[in-house]
Amino acid sequence: MSRLSIHNGLVLLNGKFEIKDILIEDEIISKIADSVPKAEQNIDANGLHVFPGFIDAHVHFRVPGAEHKEDWKSGSKAALHGGITTVLDMPNNAPGITTVELLEKKREIVAKDAMVNYGMFFGATAENTDEIRNAERIAGVKVYMGSSTGNLLVDKLKDIEKTFMACKDKDFVAAVHAECEHMISENESALKEETGIGLHNKIRNPEVAAAATKDALELQKKIGNKLHVCHSSTNAELELVKKAKNRGGNISVEVCPHHIFLDESIGEKIGTFSRVNPPIRSRQDQQAVYKHLQNGSVDLVSTDHAPHTVEEKKQDYWKSPSGMPGIETVIPLLLNEASKDAWSLEKIGEWCSNAPARIYGIEKRGALEEGNYADVTIVDMGKEWIVKGADLFSKAKWSAFEGFPLRGSIEYTIVNGEIGFEQGAIKKCSGKEVY
Ligand code: DOR
Ligand code: ZN
Ligand code: ZN
Repeated sequence: MSRLSIHNGLVLLNGKFEIKDILIEDEIISKIADSVPKAEQNIDANGLHVFPGFIDAHVHFRVPGAEHKEDWKSGSKAALHGGITTVLDMPNNAPGITTVELLEKKREIVAKDAMVNYGMFFGATAENTDEIRNAERIAGVKVYMGSSTGNLLVDKLKDIEKTFMACKDKDFVAAVHAECEHMISENESALKEETGIGLHNKIRNPEVAAAATKDALELQKKIGNKLHVCHSSTNAELELVKKAKNRGGNISVEVCPHHIFLDESIGEKIGTFSRVNPPIRSRQDQQAVYKHLQNGSVDLVSTDHAPHTVEEKKQDYWKSPSGMPGIETVIPLLLNEASKDAWSLEKIGEWCSNAPARIYGIEKRGALEEGNYADVTIVDMGKEWIVKGADLFSKAKWSAFEGFPLRGSIEYTIVNGEIGFEQGAIKKCSGKEVY
């Protein structure tokens, strides 16, 4: 048996930090107590914060079909560097994961390389409800109500409704990319002679997102399925979600770091590198997203980590693909804000560990408890550093947060009892499928 002990850390237990020791035996947390005996491997966590391993509920690791952007070796390393021990991976691959056969093939490839734990989303099409009904062990069903990277799209209400019904029957979460395709293509035609990153927030404007969010919420009300609204980016969407939750819908919502911390002025600095669906918004909407998060109307923070290469991103607006990396910076960005008292460190544990495990039904992870898998992230709130794209492990060697000074750094990332990241260095560890 391999044993690892963590001593004198500030350990997040039931929403509060307490000074405790942790004993890990093989892949399981076997004891959390005032004191545990030293093991073969020991970590002195005096002065450090010990979180349940963070779960990123929305990543695009690009396998199969776009391995030059990211694969499970680079993506896992990026996750470990960012303190993330579990990822939920999107199905907009090439080909899109829309059949049980393609899902099983993807599982086989990913199992070989994953160094963090993972779950997989299934992709909806206009006609694959039979496949959805045959799918097992998935995080949920991703429904692209508007087109984005890849060719997954379900833009007709009657097809979205059928998909939600299949989700309801199987008790799957329908995770929606809520942008209205019809409005996007109208705006694209109207603006096709223009160019520049400023176009993005005009084509995929806040109304485009609000319209689709409204449709999704109304269908959820009718059908009663579990609904998760991905990457909410505006005040209007978050207000709609809040109302729908108040009527008692089985609804959750996430926000992403680029919408929490960046506004559209970033376009002047990094041009098409800031192109992402949904777009980076006005300062007003950005502040509203931040406030909704502070006020408790958001369930979780995920990254929508969507790497593309520098060569791809630097093209003209119409050619540049949408998406940006985020998995290595999300936790430090949230920690940094906590260091300025914008929110508590406990909240980060809720948004990025407890809530994703609860909403997506990930068992024995997402909390530090005896008997749970030993997924642990240890951070040093005393350390300051500066984001540099060149230092990141993702294949996209760039960041929209380049040059950001941050307080709070990831010191250890432990996956199933194995130290996968230790003070700047990646170590050998292996991930498991969580479903
Ligand atoms: O900007 C985005 N990029 N939004 C998406 O919905 C997909 C993602 C990607 O896969 O590149
Ligand atoms: Zn999306
Ligand atoms: Zn996404």
